Order: sequence, then structure tokens, then C-alpha cells
Amino acid sequence: MSETVKLEFEGKTYEFPVVTGTEGEKAIDISQLRPKTGLITLDPGYANTGSCKSSITFMDGEKGILRYRGIPVEQLAEHSSFIETAYLLINGRLPTAEELKQVSILFNDHSLVHEDMQIFYQNFPRGAHPMGILSSMANALRSFYPELQTIEEEINITVTRLLSKMRTMAAMSYKISRGHKVVYPRPDYRYSANFLHMMFDTPVKPYQINETLAKALDVFWLLHADHEQNCSTSTVRLVGSGRVNLYAAISAGIAALWGPLHGGANQAVIEMLEDIQRDGGNHQRAIARAKDKKDPFRLMGFGHRVYKTYDPRAKIIKKMCDKILEELNINDPLLDLAKELEEVALTDDYFIEKNLYPNVDFYSGIVLRAIGIPTNMFTVMFAIGRLPGWIAQWKESMDDPMWKLGRPRQIYTGPSITDYIPIHERHRCQA
Ligand code: CMC
Repeated sequence: MSETVKLEFEGKTYEFPVVTGTEGEKAIDISQLRPKTGLITLDPGYANTGSCKSSITFMDGEKGILRYRGIPVEQLAEHSSFIETAYLLINGRLPTAEELKQVSILFNDHSLVHEDMQIFYQNFPRGAHPMGILSSMANALRSFYPELQTIEEEINITVTRLLSKMRTMAAMSYKISRGHKVVYPRPDYRYSANFLHMMFDTPVKPYQINETLAKALDVFWLLHADHEQNCSTSTVRLVGSGRVNLYAAISAGIAALWGPLHGGANQAVIEMLEDIQRDGGNHQRAIARAKDKKDPFRLMGFGHRVYKTYDPRAKIIKKMCDKILEELNINDPLLDLAKELEEVALTDDYFIEKNLYPNVDFYSGIVLRAIGIPTNMFTVMFAIGRLPGWIAQWKESMDDPMWKLGRPRQIYTGPSITDYIPIHERHRCQA
């Protein structure tokens, strides 16, 4: 017999069905709550609200589990690639060898962006943040490629175009911000190597691809590829629910990701570590500030809405940090500082009681620094990584038979009906 939940309100009893996911997680289906009872729910930050059913990503925040289409992220990080994982997320299964080959061909074919887009880039003021530029340019794609605005063409082509062009656009934004000539993609390089080539090759100093770094970037992107209904993904779904084109929805997702509490945390972590370093390496002061309720400072890269244990992505990235720094013989004092800070925080009662552990952003900046990515491009790296997830979630929502325009309600707390006051009768306190 299917489970239900009973609600008693004003002397009446109402019953609501319980929905169970494949991993046993349960939800009360309240879609009939308002029609039956006149009530709505109030849930700041949607911390208790399931906004959809999804078969893409499974997370268990208590156990530190993350799986894409059922496959543990640890297995994917070890054996898969970012592009294969993107295919998995978007299509629901791993590609065959032939399908993967076709995807590579498409990536190459669609890696250029319209030359006129460079004019836009050149007109952003010097010092403009690359996330603002990327969000604007993602939106601009629709005007340059109007055929991409619907999914009339084969979805794989649309998706591949977007994934391929975003990588080119991100590298272009860096080149133009430095006043350098744009570098075009090469057909013989794989996804991450090609990005590094477009970022760092110059006419006077050819860039030699380092396989360790290209692999590290690939794994970094793979680990960011999806994270179920996070802030930016929910934004993509909500914006997309108005049936806007995919590019506008992705552009909104990029803007949502920019915030320091979300994707912008990777930049904020490095800035925090640099501040601590300038302060003579005094991490105790940072810990004390993070615990002080009167101080808005938070330990960046710590804590997560879902994970109440170590973020599984952070575990992989921490190991990767050690491995690549050792392999490349790099000594980054920020890594030592990050490890000391983590050790102190993990033994501090405040962090223990609140289940605050390092999240994906705590060590990822150190990997990106080793690759040579400038700090203001860190969140752009996150955006490229999250793109397959945004696309997969958008596609799933478009095909969802339960699809509805996203439109939450509210509890109004403003004044009751109030008469309009003509301007000559208004006093300052009434205005
Ligand atoms: N440093 C100090 N205190 C913290 C931190 C932190 N990093 N994170 C949470 N807390 C405290 C918070 O002050 C609150 O204390 P109290 O209960 O006394 O008011 C308690 O822990 C719960 O915090 P919350 O803000 O209610 O929890 P949340 O689930 O809304 O916050 C978070 C999640 C990620 C916004 C928060 O942990 C945070 O601000 N972390 C730092 C920013 C960061 O690293 N963000 C990246 C998240 S992972 C990448 C991604 O997927 O977006």
C-alpha cells in the first residue's frame, strides 16, 4: 500500500501521498496542498523542497555520496573523461566507442565562434570580470546562431556546439583581457588540451601541452559536471521553465554561479588564503573570525547545504593536488596553508558541531593555480565544467510530463490596503 502523510488543520484531516526515489529518499507530494487546504509552504532557501524528480545525479549528503546516472564520481574520475561524462549526463548512458568518436568530430567542427563576436569582447572595459563577460556572451550566442534557439536540430549537435563554443569563448575572454591575439583551437588536441592551448599559446612562445596538467583540468571539469538542484542549476531550470531558449537559460546559470557562496567560492578561497599569508600565516585569526557571529566573514571552501560530511569531490581534488604538485615539482605555500587551516577547522568544536567540512572549492583553486589559470578565471573554469549538468537538467525539464512554469508563492508581510496620498499632502516620513 502506498504511504501517505496526514495533515490536521482547523479540525480537518488531509492526506498527501509520499513519493519514494530509487535510493529510498522520501518526499511528501504537496501539489494538491493549496487546492485542498488553502495553505502554502514556507521554506527559505528551499532547504526542504524538492523542485522536481530527476534521474541525472544522486547525492547523499550524510554519507558523502555523489553519482552521475548511478555511476560513482570516484569511478568516473579514475576511468572516464569530461566529454564522456558529459555524454553520460546528457544522454543517460555512456557512449559507445563510435559515438564518442562522432562527438569528438562534432567538437572539432563546432569549436570556432563567429569572428564578429570578438568585437563584443573588445568593447568590455579592461578589468571586467570574465564571469560577467561569459554570461553576456552565452546569451549573445543565440543572436549569432539563431538556428540553435530551438532543439529542432539533433540535440547532440546543439549540445556539442554549446560545449565546444563555450570553451573557445572562455579562452578568448582571457586572451582579450590580456590584450593578446585570440588563439584558434587545434583539431588534433583533446578538449582540455585544446583549452590550455587557446589560453596560453602565443606567437612568440608556443605552449607545450603538459599531459599531467591537461588531465588534471579534465578531472576538475568532470567533478564539477553536475550537482543536482544547486543554485545555478535551479536557476537554469527556473529560467528555462518560461520556455526561454537554452542559451538564455545557461547565461542565467552562469550569473547565478558567479556568487561567492556558490561557484565564486573557488576564487574567494584563494583570496582568503592569500590574505592569511599576508597576515603572516595566522590561520587562527581566520578561524576566530569565521566563528564570530558579529563578523560576516566565513571560512570559504567550508560547509555545504547538502554535504554534512567531507565532500567526495574535495577528497579527489585534494589527492590530485598532492599528486600534480609532486609530479611537477611545484611548491605552493598556499597548499600547506590550506592543509593547516583544514586540520585546525576539523578539530574545532564550532566546525564539528555544525558539520562544516571542506567542499569542492577548498582545494580546487590550488590545482587551477598549478595549471596556470589566473584567479579571476577560476569561476569560469567551474562554469565550463557545470555546462553538461545545466544542459542535462534543462533537457530533462523540457521533456518532463510534470513540467510547469516555475512560480513560487509568498507570505505577504507589507501594509494592508492603504490609500494613495496626493504629493502635496505627503510628509517625508510617509514617502
Ligand atoms: N564558515 C563559518 N561558518 C559557517 C560556514 C563557513 N564556511 N558555513 C556555514 N557556517 C555556519 C553558519 O554561520 C550557520 O551558523 P548558525 O547556525 O550559528 O547560524 C551554520 O553554519 C549553517 O550555515 P547556513 O548558512 O545556514 O547553511 P547553508 O546550508 O545555508 O550554507 C553554504 C551553505 C555553502 C552557503 C555555507 O556553508 C557557506 O557560506 N560556505 C562558504 C562558501 C562556500 O564555500 N561555498 C561553496 C559551496 S560548494 C560549491 C557549490 O556547489 O556551490
